[in-house]
Amino acid sequence: MHSPVQPGSMIAGLGTAVPDRILTNFDLEKMVETSDQWIRERSGIERRHILGADENNSDLAAAAAKRALDEAGLKPEDVECIVLATITQEHPFPATACLVQAKLGATHAAAFDLSAACSGFLYALQLGDSLIRSAAYRNVLVIGSEALSRVTDWQNRSTCVLFGDGAGAAVLVPSDGKRGILSTYAKSDGRLAELLWIPAGGTARPASRETVDQRLHFIQMEGREVFKHAVRTMTDAVKKAVKLARLEFTDIDWLIPHQANIRIIEAIAERVHIPRERIVVNLQEYGNTSSASIPLAMDEARRDGRIQPGHKCLLVAFGGGFTWASSVVVL
Ligand code: ACO
Repeated sequence: MHSPVQPGSMIAGLGTAVPDRILTNFDLEKMVETSDQWIRERSGIERRHILGADENNSDLAAAAAKRALDEAGLKPEDVECIVLATITQEHPFPATACLVQAKLGATHAAAFDLSAACSGFLYALQLGDSLIRSAAYRNVLVIGSEALSRVTDWQNRSTCVLFGDGAGAAVLVPSDGKRGILSTYAKSDGRLAELLWIPAGGTARPASRETVDQRLHFIQMEGREVFKHAVRTMTDAVKKAVKLARLEFTDIDWLIPHQANIRIIEAIAERVHIPRERIVVNLQEYGNTSSASIPLAMDEARRDGRIQPGHKCLLVAFGGGFTWASSVVVL
């Protein structure tokens, strides 16, 4: 076995939050032409958490961040930088990270959003790790948080059965030498942007009566194309992250993939020979929560005792852009 690379930062605290309201596949059967059986067989999803009318992205993000800060032993006013990965900003501007900063009372922080769709948490982790390594900040609060239910077309069965709301946060600080981020990797291919996107609402197609009538403010996805690219690029990304960490796949304790579709996860695991019992899957409970899905899965597996101190976790994601990213982390 090779010796691991020297980590620059580590995750000192993790926290998550999801809305109380649950929407099951059986609820969806009453909304669109679909069935619990179709959704479970094609995606693995059984239910998802959906925001109530009086809550939003920044509420989830702030709740997750508060838990992560408590675990790290930091107060909100100690936070130096907040990177919020999201594609469901509350407003075109200012950044939702600034709203989270205000809700937390993180009065000394720089705060901004990062847009990399479902790969957002891993993009933010790579950036946060670099900011600690460069000594720009002594801590970085990395958050993946989404209000996907607000941009889901609840009349479109091809997409509305897939998504859910949620948030996950990690506090990065300099590594203690035992825990740490051993590698990060990120890539994108903007030529494929239109296969997974929200066509209107930005400066290309500002909101108008037509864009609303044509339902262009909701997520649109070419599912089969996304599926193909997701398997290919995530398989490549896990190999890159393991190599950059100077490890072998047999050294990895847990694969924690973006939770979009159980068939995508199984296809990747099969290609790199990771057995099912070493993969963290919780998409049946939450659906695809985009940038929140990896911290939601990681935190759950840590809390129920599957991930133990010192375990090596291989994280991988794919999303709109297209974007993809991976990382090896020792918690
Ligand atoms: N219920 C019942 N039938 C449905 C439903 C539904 N909810 N949705 C689609 N169908 C039908 C289709 O109309 C189609 O019918 P047809 O054969 O008569 O035309 C049939 O089921 C098969 O449709 P496909 O789209 O080919 O089904 P597929 O097996 O590809 O599964 C899915 C669809 C689940 C969307 C899959 O393609 C997928 O998971 N894609 C990747 C999604 C993903 O990973 N996204 C990640 C990024 S998300 C982000 O970045 C925000």
